[in-house]
Amino acid sequence: MSVRPFYWKRRDLLILDQRQLPDKIKYLRSESPTDVATLIRAMAVRGAPAIGCCAAYGMVLSVQLGPSHPSFSRLVESAKILKEARPTAVNLAWALDRMILMAKSHEGVSRSRLTEILLKEAKKIEAEDFENNKAMGRAGAALFGKEAVILTHCNTGALATAGHGTALGIIRELHLQKKLKKVIVDETRPYLQGARLTAWELDQEHIPHELITDNMAAHLMKTERVSAVIVGCDRVVANGDTANKIGTYSLAILAQYHEIPFYVAMPLSTLDLSKKTGMEIVIEERPSEEVVTFAGKRIAPKKTRARHPAFDVTPGILITALITEKGVVKPPFGENLRSLRGRQRRPEQSYEIASSLCSSQ
Ligand code: MRU
Repeated sequence: MSVRPFYWKRRDLLILDQRQLPDKIKYLRSESPTDVATLIRAMAVRGAPAIGCCAAYGMVLSVQLGPSHPSFSRLVESAKILKEARPTAVNLAWALDRMILMAKSHEGVSRSRLTEILLKEAKKIEAEDFENNKAMGRAGAALFGKEAVILTHCNTGALATAGHGTALGIIRELHLQKKLKKVIVDETRPYLQGARLTAWELDQEHIPHELITDNMAAHLMKTERVSAVIVGCDRVVANGDTANKIGTYSLAILAQYHEIPFYVAMPLSTLDLSKKTGMEIVIEERPSEEVVTFAGKRIAPKKTRARHPAFDVTPGILITALITEKGVVKPPFGENLRSLRGRQRRPEQSYEIASSLCSSQ
């Protein structure tokens, strides 16, 4: 992908305004953590890993703007503003905790030194996400033979990450390995991430795809050959329950009924072992306005209010496997996820310390 969802330039963060895609490619400049939080909340940038990366750069902006002797409490305040931008995707809190821990271990250094240290850490988070996506792509592609037909939901591609993508990264890898027949893309009402973003990414790379409205999935599963559903995730908890874009849960039920494998592409930055079940996940409720209008035009009576939960939780029992950068995790998820986290470089405990410094979601 030649278009990047965000990039750091000299002293600023530039964020691609995804609300204007596929019509326009326009970058918005952020000069403060509040600018970044505003763009995350307004969904100019979206997708769990991408908002985590942008928030990390937001912390660099916070130090740059601050006093010559950086104040740790000011940094914690900036992290809080960024964390509150969107509550469901754990990557946001995860990246901020990592930045806070880094700052804590360098307390007392000058503004320019801390800027340097945090910029290096933000770039590392971004680079790791890219590499992890590539590894997930390879692990996921190994699950398929030739002529795969993959149904996917929302946008999990280069636009939602530091590049390449999670579920869409697996699809890209399948295409590269000539194992992909086509992708069926859910339009993903109401924000249309499938129609506006996923179809756009696939089109750019000439990857065969067909767009469907969300309510066509059951019919296609019944009347055509669908090899698997692959989706991304915003938070996977200890028992494998998975929060992802609204509509994911119904796809998982449909997949089970039609005996189609249901895979979740999960970078370890999306794993939250502090929560036992999906019941504990906070689901973001977005404005009614985003449902009662379509392309700027009202489609429901003036006084009608709509519900707009932006995510739902798919029970772990409906998930065939979680595809991670460390390999494919099969049920029982409770046990297998715990041992996977145990093998990670950074102990879970460090995140708990950071979270207590900066009350995590
Ligand atoms: O509301 P969004 O567009 O941020 O939701 C995005 C999703 O639900 C994605 O599936 C998820 O973040 C994974 S992206 C690799």
